[in-house]
Amino acid sequence: YEIYLNGMTGAVPRLPTDLTRLEEMAERRLGPGPVGYVAGSAGDGSTARANRAALERHRIVPRMLRDVHERDLSVEVLGRPLPAPLALAPVGVLSIMHPEAESAAARAATALGVPFTLSSASSTPLEEVAKASGEGERWFQLYWAKDREVTRSFLRRAKAAGFTALFVTLDTPLLAWRPRDLDQAYLPFLRGVGTANYFTDPAFAAGLAKPVHEDPDAAVLHFVNMFADPGKTWPDLAFLRENWDGPIVLKGVLHPDDARLAAEAGMDGVVVSNHGGRQVAGSLAAADALPAVAAAVGDRLTVLFDSGIRTGDDVVKALALGAEAVLLGRPYAYGLGLDGQAGVEHVLRCVLAELDLTLALSGHAGVGTLTREVLTQAPL
Ligand code: FNR
Repeated sequence: YEIYLNGMTGAVPRLPTDLTRLEEMAERRLGPGPVGYVAGSAGDGSTARANRAALERHRIVPRMLRDVHERDLSVEVLGRPLPAPLALAPVGVLSIMHPEAESAAARAATALGVPFTLSSASSTPLEEVAKASGEGERWFQLYWAKDREVTRSFLRRAKAAGFTALFVTLDTPLLAWRPRDLDQAYLPFLRGVGTANYFTDPAFAAGLAKPVHEDPDAAVLHFVNMFADPGKTWPDLAFLRENWDGPIVLKGVLHPDDARLAAEAGMDGVVVSNHGGRQVAGSLAAADALPAVAAAVGDRLTVLFDSGIRTGDDVVKALALGAEAVLLGRPYAYGLGLDGQAGVEHVLRCVLAELDLTLALSGHAGVGTLTREVLTQAPL
């Protein structure tokens, strides 16, 4: 009701409360390069569209006259209590959206008690983001480098900086065919803005002939060559298990057999995700992959979800389809670009408030009662 009460004094929100309008607003204010990078998807965008369509196809069946005067949105994820089933997804190179980049997003997440996942392709060194995140829950996302020493160094640094869980992104052994970036020749890494987390890493620097400031082009090239590794296979996970003392979550799992392999490899969780439709053009929608993965490993692993979440009712649907919590990507990147930390807080407040209201109006006092029976499929 905060927004309505403020509205009585003439104060309307600075950003729209319908988060699907943020992209168009960001495009006007920030220009096609940065917004193309955030909005851009693989191929003709069909995977990103399918993500939205799949969530929209599922419809909530509300129940009446159930006592919902007090709601409890809290959940336990990876052994930690969270106030709500929502976290910020790892988004690389946030300095292209706002100069305070990952630090502003981390501060916003902490202000609302939401975990922040830091991309290893962060434009800010992870230690600095950890300071900004303060007492907040923080998770570290790893792009699994070719160079073992760099990976080991990242894991060591992340642990020392208080990141509690490791998210290993499996769906990006190569960057996909993304026409909006290709047409703008826009790759933030190559502009050298996105690579500070690597450039400040001692193991990364050890692989360079000259210090970064003396030959920045060579440093960027080194980054591009080692940043991901299409040669990795399941047995390689043993290396991460040995070098990370804490939960490991595999991000980008869509097939139930891959989820089973994750469990067999001693992992703690999976994120059912198609990277927001940015990797495999023509991929199945993430929400359509979720029920089978949850059925395969839901009793053994933490099952998280992202790709297409824009509203509170999307969160309800993802939980009903088997997720324990969801990650939010593009909306908060736009919020950051449009209004810094306050913009990210706005986005989080909107999703959390709408989640709370949708639960109440559908007859749920908490997330524990969200099962498949809560949903029906819209007639095609
Ligand atoms: C991402 N994503 C991503 N994932 C990851 O593991 N590491 C990364 O560095 C990035 N970087 C990144 C940049 C941008 C601009 C976007 C939009 C996305 C994927 C992200 O974590 C998440 O999977 C999707 O964004 C979720 O889909 P929605 O919410 O954007 O639809």
